[in-house]
Amino acid sequence: MQIEQPFELVLFGGLGDLALRKLFPALYLLELDKRLPKGRILAVGRRELKRPELLGKIKSRITNLDDATWLRFEQRLSYVSVDVQQVDAYQHLASELDESCPNRLFYLATASSLYADIAKNLHLNQLIQSSSKVVLEKPIGHDLASAKNINKAVAEYFDEAQIYRIDHYLGKETVQNLMVLRFANSIFESQWNQQYIDHIQISISESLGVEKRAGFYEQVGAFRDMMQNHLLQLLCIVAMEPPSKMEPDAVRDEKVKVIKALRPIEGKDILDKVVRGQYGDGVSEGKPVPRYRDEEGVDGQSQTETFVAMKVEIENWRWAGVPFYLRTGKRLAERACEIVVQFKEIPHSIFAMQHKETMANKLIFRLQPDEGIRLQLCEKKIGSGMNVRPMILSLNPDNPSQDYLSVNSAEQSTNGHVTRVPEAYERLLFDALASNPTLFLRDDELMQAWDWVDPILAAWQESESTPEPYTSGTWGPAAATLLLAKDGRLWNENN
Ligand code: BG6
Repeated sequence: MQIEQPFELVLFGGLGDLALRKLFPALYLLELDKRLPKGRILAVGRRELKRPELLGKIKSRITNLDDATWLRFEQRLSYVSVDVQQVDAYQHLASELDESCPNRLFYLATASSLYADIAKNLHLNQLIQSSSKVVLEKPIGHDLASAKNINKAVAEYFDEAQIYRIDHYLGKETVQNLMVLRFANSIFESQWNQQYIDHIQISISESLGVEKRAGFYEQVGAFRDMMQNHLLQLLCIVAMEPPSKMEPDAVRDEKVKVIKALRPIEGKDILDKVVRGQYGDGVSEGKPVPRYRDEEGVDGQSQTETFVAMKVEIENWRWAGVPFYLRTGKRLAERACEIVVQFKEIPHSIFAMQHKETMANKLIFRLQPDEGIRLQLCEKKIGSGMNVRPMILSLNPDNPSQDYLSVNSAEQSTNGHVTRVPEAYERLLFDALASNPTLFLRDDELMQAWDWVDPILAAWQESESTPEPYTSGTWGPAAATLLLAKDGRLWNENN
C-alpha cells in the first residue's frame, strides 16, 4: 500500500534518545523502500540548533547508509526550537507549517507530563486541523490518575480517532505473525486453551543497562517502562479471542477483554506473585559493568527496579488455570524477547522416554534479536529401537536451514525476490501516516492496564521492602527463579 496524500510530521522530543535511536532511522528505512509519500519532517527541540547539526546527528545513527536515499531523506528534514510550555513559542513552528497539508501528524516523544501543555498550545496556535493526528509515546502517565488526566487534557483538542497511542512491540514482525499463525491456521487455535497448554512465558531481557537515560528511568522503573505496556500488550495478543475482523476496534475490543479478565494482584499476592530486582555490578557482554546505583545520574540510594517478574492469571474459560509468567530486566544475561507456549505433557507414553517433561511440545515466538517461530516436537532417533528425541521445526519456509529469521537481514523468498524484515517503528509510523490505528492502543485499553497495575505500584510505594539485587549479566534475582520453581517449572533459557 502507498500513501497518496502529502504529509507533515512534527516530532516533539526531536533531539531525544528515542527520536535519534529509533524514529529517524525508521523514517529513513521508509524512504529507502520508497514508502514515504511527498512530505516533510520537522524535529522540535528546546535548544537552538543549526540544521547541519541536526542532519549530522541523524546521519550518524543510520547504519548501512545509502547515499542516494540519504540525499532524498535529508531534504525533508528541518529543525525548530520551541519551548513547548510557552504558548508564544509555537509561532515559530506555525511559520514552518503548510496550512494546506492534508496529513499533519504530531508525534509526542517527550515526557508524558508535557502532553497536556503541547496539545493545548497547539490548539491555541490553531495548528490542529480536523485531519491532524497525534501519536503519544508510552508510558502515558505514572499511574491511573495521572494517565486519566493526560488523556482528558489531550482529548480536549483531539478526538479519540485522532489519537494514536503507540507501543512499538505491536509493530514487531513476529507479533503480527503470531496473529496470523493463530487466526489463519486451525491446528494452533484448536489447541490454544487450558486443555492443552500448561503455561506461557513472555520474557524481554536486555543486556544494556540504563545508559544515558537515568533522568527518565529513575522516575519510571522497569514496571512502568516495560511491564505495564510492552509485556501486557504481548500477553493480550497471545490470549485474546479471535477478533471478528482485522479492524481497529474489533482487535482492540478483544484486547480490552483480556485486560479486564486479569486476576487482580493485591495485598499479600503481590509478595507471592511479583518479584522486583535492581542490578548490581557484574560482567555484561564480556566487560565489567557498574551497579545501577553507580550509573551516571542515578541516586546512590535508588529504589528503582530494573527487573520485574510476575505470575499472571486470566479468569476466563480459555485460560483458567494457565499461568502466564512475565519477565523483563536490564543487564540480564542476553538481549532476547520470546513468547514460549508450553504445551502439556502427553497423558501416557508408550515409548521409553527419558525426561518426558522436557519433551512436551513448545511453540516459541522469538521477537529478537532474531525473529522467527520454532515448534519443538518429538521424533524417533534414527537406528534400532524406538527412542524418542526432541526436534525443532522452524517455521521459516524461506529459510528452512536457519532456525530463526534475522531482522534486517535480507530474506530470500521462493520467487527470488528479496525483502527486509521491517523495524517496529517503521511499520507503526507508516500506519499512523496511513491513518490505520489497529496496532495502537485505545483509551479504555490504556486505562484498564493502569487500573490493573496500580495496586502493585501503590503497594511498592508504601512498602518497606526494596528491589532484590542481582548480579549484572545473570538472569535476575533468585526470587524470579523461585517464582516458577514453586510451581515446578523453569524459565526457558539458553535455547
Ligand atoms: C522502550 C523502553 O520502550 O523499549 C526501553 O523505554 C527499552 O527502556 C526498549 O530499552 C526496548 O525496546 P527494543 O525494541 O529495543 O526491545
